[in-house]
Amino acid sequence: MRIFVGSDHAGFSLKEHVKSYLERAGHDVVDVGTHSEDSVDYPDYALKVARAVASGEADTGVLVCGTGLGMQIAANKVRGVRAVQIMDPELAVMARKHNNANLLTLAGRYTDPQTAERIVDAFLSTAFEGGRHERRVEKIAAIEQEYRPGITQGKES
Ligand code: RB5
Repeated sequence: MRIFVGSDHAGFSLKEHVKSYLERAGHDVVDVGTHSEDSVDYPDYALKVARAVASGEADTGVLVCGTGLGMQIAANKVRGVRAVQIMDPELAVMARKHNNANLLTLAGRYTDPQTAERIVDAFLSTAFEGGRHERRVEKIAAIEQEYRPGITQGKES
């Protein structure tokens, strides 16, 4: 798979670990940064990875900040992205099966490297179940259409 990864300073160490784990597993990994523990702003990296996922340039993405929460919030502003912050492999399975999540965010300050590997494995190896979940995910996309830039609640603004 082609996987974009990114982090801020707080997620740098775990992002580096996940990146080499994915490369060793044979994935084509694109690292959008950051490349050190110097302080940066997580939305800048969330945007790069989220855009790649939304456009189809990436099959999926992994973003790491201190909590994974800021990355999740920022990535979900990009239409077509369904980013989930995951700290438990079981929920990675559910996020794929039921929500067709297409971007994973991790908490660099709260998740150890081995747990992150298990989360990533679960996320990448689980397929969307479709069926009744398809209709629900389509309703999320419909919300994005209603609230697109310049349009508020279906009306031009
Ligand atoms: C940086 O201190 C921290 O706020 C950031 O990494 C992230 O946890 C935000 O959600």
